[in-house]
Amino acid sequence: MPAITLTTLQGLKQQGEKIAMLTCYDATFAHACNEAGVEVLLVGDSLGMVLQGHDSTLPVTTAEMAYHVAAVKRGNTDALILADLPFMAYATLEQTMINSAMLMQAGAHMVKLEGALWLADSIRLLAERGVPVCAHLGLTPQAVNVLGGYKVQGRNENQARQMRADAISLEQAGAAMLLLECVPSELAEEITQAVKIPVIGIGAGNATDGQVLVLHDMLGLSITGRTPKFVKNFMSGQTSIQGALSAYVAQVKAATFPGAEHGFSA
Ligand code: KIV
Repeated sequence: MPAITLTTLQGLKQQGEKIAMLTCYDATFAHACNEAGVEVLLVGDSLGMVLQGHDSTLPVTTAEMAYHVAAVKRGNTDALILADLPFMAYATLEQTMINSAMLMQAGAHMVKLEGALWLADSIRLLAERGVPVCAHLGLTPQAVNVLGGYKVQGRNENQARQMRADAISLEQAGAAMLLLECVPSELAEEITQAVKIPVIGIGAGNATDGQVLVLHDMLGLSITGRTPKFVKNFMSGQTSIQGALSAYVAQVKAATFPGAEHGFSA
């Protein structure tokens, strides 16, 4: 077991201490993130974009995810490892079980699924079988072709009401964590208060229980040269990557990141 468990994260929420999460895809960065005090390492399918150079996360396979989970596990001692089930790896209940088993056996402590109420059965079955689940609401990049681009979600009252209801239903189904991506800050705050499980935000304002960023983004690395509004370059003013990782953890813990300029309004 890592030093940080779901119980630790639940305790941090209850104590009002912010949770620091970063994406991580290899052993060296897992070790560096441990040194910096990052509590959750997300082996995100964003690796399809930042490591593989694709223009979306859709080409990533479960075997590729398992390869990176195993690498992260070898460098990690402290953090909880959360792994994304990639596009279409949880299209049926059977695929969900098989592919989650692959990621857990590679070293993940929890899996993340993108989607709303339709995931309730999958989450229930996984939780019953010993697989903790993080549900991902808001901008769900695997659905980029349905959403018509990488856009802020929950901006109108109907969408906001639906997202609040989905968050509560997924918690009731057994989700142990929630991730909100590109959601108006006020809505993210309401959802964070409405559920007991830790809520991690990216582009979701300052009031969530924790924050996550894509590692390459926060180190100021980009293939396209375009940086989303919610990203801060933590290499600015630092002389080392280790310094940037520590600055990220410190600013998340102090709630000085994200600032209002990194958030979205309704
Ligand atoms: O894949 C990923 O890196 C993610 C983050 C954007 C939250 O899901």
